Amino acid sequence: MAIASLTRKYIMAAAGLFLCIFLIGHLVGNLQLFIPGEAGQLQFNEYAKFMTTNPAVKVLSYLTYFSILLHTFAGLALTIQNNKARPQKYAYNKPSANTIWSARNMGILGTIILIFIVIHLKGFWYEMHWGEIGVDANGNRDLHTVVITAFNQLWYVALYVVCMIAIGFHLYHGFQSGFQSLGLNHSKYTPIIKLKGKAFAILIPLAFASIPVYIYLTF
Ligand code: HEM
Repeated sequence: MAIASLTRKYIMAAAGLFLCIFLIGHLVGNLQLFIPGEAGQLQFNEYAKFMTTNPAVKVLSYLTYFSILLHTFAGLALTIQNNKARPQKYAYNKPSANTIWSARNMGILGTIILIFIVIHLKGFWYEMHWGEIGVDANGNRDLHTVVITAFNQLWYVALYVVCMIAIGFHLYHGFQSGFQSLGLNHSKYTPIIKLKGKAFAILIPLAFASIPVYIYLTF
């Protein structure tokens, strides 16, 4: 493999695995949306303020934005290169016999996730930073009400659930593929990584999807 495409694979894997760590942190923070009543509202808004003002978190945020860009551009280049390498689109071999569906559709899944991220950032992140939103009893910007209002619309909840399924499929192949790209291959540990990757790909999107569904049903 050419040096350039090897480097691209490393960059993609490192950025992708960093984004997996981001997902865990983001999920833990968002689980506060399960706290009922005004206590939940005040706590979530206090957390959102901390996440947008703390200098250490800001560094992590910039790393996250940078990782999304790196992962996207490297992935795009890899998809174009792979399509060029086999223009006959597996005319003679049966791809389904060799690779799982998600592995063959990482580009499409990644595109769906990118569209989701744009909609998601516009809906919450943009509103928190620059939107005209109200304040709660503590005087903090009331992002909680923005989230609850959004997830009281059925189409918005459905959009999130569908996108979490796409993220699940993307991670199902991506998690273990990331380790492989970084050369972390071991006869004893690789099967464990694969298993943990599959559990991660199912549990994390499931937990994320449960938040809008819970809010729609209870708030
Ligand atoms: C139910 C699921 C989710 C909820 C309720 C949620 C909620 C939020 C909220 C309220 C913010 C703005 C908070 C802030 O700016 O500090 C935010 C930011 C963000 N979300 Fe989500 N999120 C969800 C799922 C996801 C997923 C699956 C991804 C990635 C695929 C994601 C990526 C991001 C990113 C990149 C930011 C900007 C973070 C930063 O500025 O550091 N979110 N999310």
